[in-house]
Amino acid sequence: MSMHAAVVRSFDHPPRYEQYDAPEPSGPDETVAEVLAVGLHPRVRSGAAGRHYTSTGTLPMIPGIDGVGRLPDGGLVYFAVPDDVWGSMAEQAVVDPRRTVPLPDGADVAKIAAAMNPAMSAWVALRRRVPLQPGQSVLVLGATGNAGTMAVQVARRLGAGRVVGAGRNPERLAALAAVGADEVVALDDDREATAARLAKAAAEVDIVIDYLWGEPAAGAMMALLTARADRSRALDWIQIGAIAGPAIELPSVALRSANLRVQGCGQGSVSPRAYLAELPSLVAEIDAGAIAVSARPVPLAEVEAAWTAPEPPGQRTVLIP
Ligand SMILES: NC(=O)c1ccc[n+]([C@@H]2O[C@H](COP(=O)([O-])OP(=O)(O)OC[C@H]3O[C@@H](n4cnc5c(N)ncnc54)[C@H](OP(=O)(O)O)[C@@H]3O)[C@@H](O)[C@H]2O)c1
Repeated sequence: MSMHAAVVRSFDHPPRYEQYDAPEPSGPDETVAEVLAVGLHPRVRSGAAGRHYTSTGTLPMIPGIDGVGRLPDGGLVYFAVPDDVWGSMAEQAVVDPRRTVPLPDGADVAKIAAAMNPAMSAWVALRRRVPLQPGQSVLVLGATGNAGTMAVQVARRLGAGRVVGAGRNPERLAALAAVGADEVVALDDDREATAARLAKAAAEVDIVIDYLWGEPAAGAMMALLTARADRSRALDWIQIGAIAGPAIELPSVALRSANLRVQGCGQGSVSPRAYLAELPSLVAEIDAGAIAVSARPVPLAEVEAAWTAPEPPGQRTVLIP
């Protein structure tokens, strides 16, 4: 049996739409789902380029880490893929029913496929890594991307008292007020001015959700810590993305002179069991429209062109087999 799939045969070339062997379950805990929608997330791009920290280097591979599909019993589900080599960008995918969440019939499949991955980052961070206490204040660093914009909504939804969004895209920054940001901070190349703005708006936050890392994160850490009224009050920094750089230079004094607690949130730092436990409530929030992202559906047959085309800001490409 064969199917259509997006297939990566070289890590330096986008996947191509090809005929490929249909997957088969390898044990009683697996079944084959008909795939209906798959998000093209940054994590999927890095996996397809062999650059994700979980990559095994095996080729050929089908990219895609999650999606919405139909099980053989007819049930509509959100699913996470158990395998990095047989991913979800195909007409069929092997799924472990224990790693699926039932969806109501009539659910917007593109919306769920677009939103789960970016929304999950802050949702799991604020429930599993640093459980948000009602009324606490949060800074989202890199709030103009899909995940960052949803982090503003997630923080609000989970009871944050004040949410500050920081990012570099002025139009997207301006749009954050409508989704729950109390204040926004522009990040630009003038490091001193950026540090002063961050200190003014966010020196007293309890938690930072950081999608940037690199120099902007290092600058923001020092800006917040030095302006904090009581440096012994905990500042929880949750590292989630590294769009601005894979490493930072952190002066030792930042850790000695303030109560800075740095940890990350992703595959490995949170167990698969804990991720799974969070999925049903997150699906419910997205299905109800409480946490939203704009999905851009594209036929899977156009995957090669979609891969390299610039994504309109604030939208997430969703491939439809
Ligand atoms: N750990 C997890 O569980 C998890 C889950 C989901 C996502 N992530 C990670 O989180 C990051 C964001 O994901 P996403 O889905 O939001 O991606 P996205 O929608 O592509 O957004 C990326 C955003 O980053 C902004 N950006 C790029 N370089 C920047 C810089 N130097 N300074 C400020 N902003 C910058 C871009 O803004 P402009 O408009 O200014 O270009 C863009 O809006 C990725 O690294 C992803 O891998 C992690």
